[in-house]
Order: sequence, then C-alpha cells, then structure tokens
Amino acid sequence: MAEPRRIPLIVIGMGQVGSAFLAQLMRTREYLQARYAVDLYPVALADTTGALVEVGGLKDHDLKVLLAQKAGQAQIVEQPGALDPMPAGDLLAQIVAQGVEKAVVVDATAAAGMEPTLHQALDAGYSVVLANKRPLAGTWNEAQMFFEHPRVQFGATVGGGLPITTTLRAMIDAGDRVERIEGALSGTLGYLCSRLEVGEAFSVIVDAAKARGYTEPDPREDLSGVDVARKMLILGRLAGWPLELDNLTVDPLYPPTMADLSVDEFMAALPRLDSDFAAYMGAQAGAPRYLAKIGSEGGSVSLRMVGERLAAQLSGRMNQVTFWTKIYHDRPLTISGPGTGRENAAAAVLRDCLQLARTG
Ligand SMILES: NC(=O)c1ccc[n+]([C@@H]2O[C@H](COP(=O)([O-])OP(=O)(O)OC[C@H]3O[C@@H](n4cnc5c(N)ncnc54)[C@H](OP(=O)(O)O)[C@@H]3O)[C@@H](O)[C@H]2O)c1
Repeated sequence: MAEPRRIPLIVIGMGQVGSAFLAQLMRTREYLQARYAVDLYPVALADTTGALVEVGGLKDHDLKVLLAQKAGQAQIVEQPGALDPMPAGDLLAQIVAQGVEKAVVVDATAAAGMEPTLHQALDAGYSVVLANKRPLAGTWNEAQMFFEHPRVQFGATVGGGLPITTTLRAMIDAGDRVERIEGALSGTLGYLCSRLEVGEAFSVIVDAAKARGYTEPDPREDLSGVDVARKMLILGRLAGWPLELDNLTVDPLYPPTMADLSVDEFMAALPRLDSDFAAYMGAQAGAPRYLAKIGSEGGSVSLRMVGERLAAQLSGRMNQVTFWTKIYHDRPLTISGPGTGRENAAAAVLRDCLQLARTG
C-alpha cells in the first residue's frame, strides 16, 4: 500500500469543540490512513494561554495529557505539559518558518479578531477549517474571501455540524439558485421554547439551562438572537447574497434595559419577564419556536407561534433548515437533526479537514 499523504494540523482553541476534535482524531487516524491514504497529524495546539508545537507531530500521549489538563482531570495528568505563551499569529509564523507545508489550520475558538491569522495561513498555502462563526459574519468586505476561497471550509458553524453548509454549497456548485431559507438554528433556544410550551416560567427555564451548561456563561449571548442571526447570515452569504448582519432584524428575548446588567443582576431580574412570556403564550394559538429566515433582501430572527407539525419537528434541541430553490421549489429541501453537542461539531470539523486534505 502507498505511504499515506501526511497533512499537518494546527488546532487553535481547545475548548469543547477543539478537545472533542482531537479526541476523535486520535480514535480515527488509523482508519483514515487505511481508507483514504491520508494521515492527519497535529503539529501545534493553542489556547489563550499559549501553544504546544512539535513540527514532526505531537505524540498521542502528550495530546492526552493536555486534553486531560484542559478537562480539569488533574488526577490523570502525568506531566505538566505547560504551553509556551504565544499569540496565534506568532505560532503560525514559527511553524511556517520551520518549513511546514500544506497544513490545515482549525479555528475552534469563539474569538473576534482571528482574521489576520487566517489570512496568514491562507497566504502560506495552508487550508482553514472554521468552527468559529465570527470571521464569516463580519462585514461582507472582510468576510467575502472566506466564502470564496477554495481552501476554506466551515461545516461546524451552522446547525452544530449537521451537513447544512456542505449541502448548500453542493447545490449552488451544481447550478441551483436559492430563493429563501428558513430554520431553527439554536439548540439552546429550542430547549427553552419546548419548556415554555409546557407552561414553565421563563426565568426558571433560563436558570435550569444555565445550570446544565446549555447556555453560554452569560445567557444573553443565546437570548439576544445574535448567534442565530450570524448562522443565518452565513447561509445567506453562501447562497450568494452579499448581506450584512444589520440586514437581519433580530428580536432578543429580553428588553434593552437588561442589556447592560451584570450576569448576576440579569439572572436576578429575569422573573420580571415571566408574566410577559405567559401573556404572549396565552394570547396566541400554537407553540413558541425561535425561527430565522433569510432571502436576497435580508431576514429576521424572532420568537413565533407555530402549528403542531412544525412544533413536533422542532422539539427540544433539534435544529432544522429548509431551502427553497429553483429545483426544490414546490417541495423544499429540509435538513433536520440534533444541532448541538461538541461531538457533532467536532465530527464536522474532522470531515472538513479530511475534505481539504483529500483535495488540497
Ligand atoms: N460547543 C458546541 O457544541 C459548538 C457547536 C458548533 C460550533 N461551535 C463553535 O465552535 C467554537 C468553539 O466552541 P467551544 O464550545 O469549543 O468554545 P470554548 O469551549 O469556549 O473553547 C474556546 C477555545 O478557544 C480558545 N481561545 C479563545 N480565544 C483564543 C485565541 N485568541 N487564541 C487561541 N485560543 C483561543 C480558548 O482558550 P482557553 O481554553 O484558554 O480559554 C478555548 O480553548 C465557537 O466558535 C462555537 O460557536 C460550538
């Protein structure tokens, strides 16, 4: 059998998704070598504290130690494995200077300002896989090149890794034209809506979701609707519409007066919203769902009351996207499934790395 083609990986971000990705990679690496003759091997890992670099390839043992440290499992850590403090841009420059070619850079952060590092990677002939939505959701002027670059993939950014962006891209590449897109793109807000539907108080649900780790540490990041708007913007731009984030109207699930409170103050103030949500639910038929839609002129993200069928499809943390296109005109194409979870998102990152490794 031919020697597998070796593809170096640089993983920036070792939180939920980055760690799950590395664990999946260690489990599947031999399978990928045997099936595709491709060897994806990590040469560098980074988080906010620094980076670990070994251009010959990091050993599984060192990866496991680092992942255990990140997970806070101190008891199974056998050696310190401390990271060298290093910003992502310097890390990349160091790796390029050591002659590493055709690497794949994974951005598994949620950080703003990663664009210069990603440009640096593409300029060096590397490929880029994004779990981070922000580089795709900045101004169109800045984001356009990430949508058009043949060495950029971002399957994990929408729908928690369901094959949504890849399907949309394939439809467009084959000459289909998208007319409009609708969907439910937040597992967290799906959970919240399903519990509102059965009559629980809004404040109790948000408290429970925060305690279970379903929301961000500041639940307003979910409740603002901006994260959903970013995902819909990514789909709209991929569909060919050069829209900006402010072309989408976004209805947050809390009033502007609560935007500047501390997280503790915000949580304490939540019960004030319970009667508003109860009144909203009582005034209309149907079930509440947080839905997004987009077309060539813009879109919206808001809480709406929907009929029984859609409510059943979108129970709990399900994600769903429906495309109306020139081909899928009378009967639209729907992709539906669990849209949350680090393992699903990590699997999408791995698929993207493999795709780039096989075509790059
Ligand atoms: N979690 C999911 O289920 C899911 C699903 C789909 C997509 N996503 C997306 O995937 C991305 C990662 O999500 P996550 O849940 O894994 O987030 P997370 O747990 O908060 O992890 C983020 C990681 O990025 C690192 N980081 C942040 N800024 C950095 C910088 N400037 N340079 C280097 N490292 C940096 C953090 O370092 P420290 O460890 O030092 O803080 C952390 O390791 C996000 O964009 C998210 O929207 C997540």
